[in-house]
Amino acid sequence: GENFTFEIIEDIKKYLFERTKIRPKIGIICGTGLGHLAENLTNVDSFPYEDIPNFPISTVSGHAGKMVFGYLNNVEVMCMQGRFHYYEGYPLSKCSMPVRVMKICGCTHLIATNAAGGLNPSYKVGDIMIVKDHINIMGFAGNSPLQGPNDPRFGPRFPPMDRAYDPHIVKIAKEVAKEMNMGNEIQTGVYTCVGGPNYETVAELKMLKLFGVDAVGMSTVHEVITARHCDMKVFAFSLITNMCYTDYDDNEEANHDEVVNIGLKRQDRITEFVTKVVTEINLD
Ligand code: 6GU
Repeated sequence: GENFTFEIIEDIKKYLFERTKIRPKIGIICGTGLGHLAENLTNVDSFPYEDIPNFPISTVSGHAGKMVFGYLNNVEVMCMQGRFHYYEGYPLSKCSMPVRVMKICGCTHLIATNAAGGLNPSYKVGDIMIVKDHINIMGFAGNSPLQGPNDPRFGPRFPPMDRAYDPHIVKIAKEVAKEMNMGNEIQTGVYTCVGGPNYETVAELKMLKLFGVDAVGMSTVHEVITARHCDMKVFAFSLITNMCYTDYDDNEEANHDEVVNIGLKRQDRITEFVTKVVTEINLD
C-alpha cells in the first residue's frame, strides 16, 4: 500500500501554507451533495486535488475535488469539497490521509459530513442525524486506516475509540438545532460505514438494524478513527437521503441521483447549521 509518512504530510502542509494565509482551526469534510458548504466560505484559497503534491484525485459525481481554505463566519477553516471513498479503490489509509493534513495544518477539530440511508424507522428523508457513535464494520473484517507501522508523531499504536464523537460538541449541535427550530428534522444516532459502492440487500439492512445502526453510508468512520488517533475533537452528522427498507414487500431502491438531490434541497439549512456549530466551537 501507499505510505503517507509524517514528512509527506508536512510537505503537503508546506505546499498549502506557502499559498494561503489562512491558519485553520477546524477541518470540514463535505459529503455527497453537501459541497455547497464550501461555497459559503469567504476569502477563499482553493486547491484542486490534482495540484496538491501526493494527493489522490476524487472521481465520484457530486464531488468537486478541492481543498478550500477560508472563513466561515470569521472562523478559519479548511474544507474538503469531495472526499476519497474506499470503493474508488484507495486503501483506507489513503482515504483518510487528508485528515492528517488537517491536523498538521493546525486543526484541532474535524467536522465530517455524509449522505446516508436511514434505518431507524422514526427517521425521514431530509433529516440530519448527529452521529453519537459508530460501528466499524470494516474494522471487524480486518481493515483499518491505522494498519501498518505506527508513527507516534501522529498518535498511539492502540488509540481508544470511546467518546470518539465529542459529547460536548453533540450538546452544542443540539442547542444549535433547537435555536434553528429544527424540531423533528434533527436526530441523534449510530452510523456505520460499509465498503460500497453497491447499496445493501434487505437481509444486510435487517442485520444492521439488529446491531443498533441508525444510518448507513460509505465514509466517515475511517476519517474519524484517523482524527481520534491524532487527538482531534470530532463532530459528524449524516444527511438522511433515503430510507432503508427492511421488508421484502417495500421495493424502494436507493439511488445516487436521489442522494445528490436531497443534498441540494437541504444545502442552505445544512450550511446554516454547520456555520452555527463552527461559531460555537470557536467560542469555546
Ligand atoms: Cl441506503 N447505503 C449506503 N451504504 N450508503 C448510502 C445509502 C445507503 N444512502 C445514501 N448513502
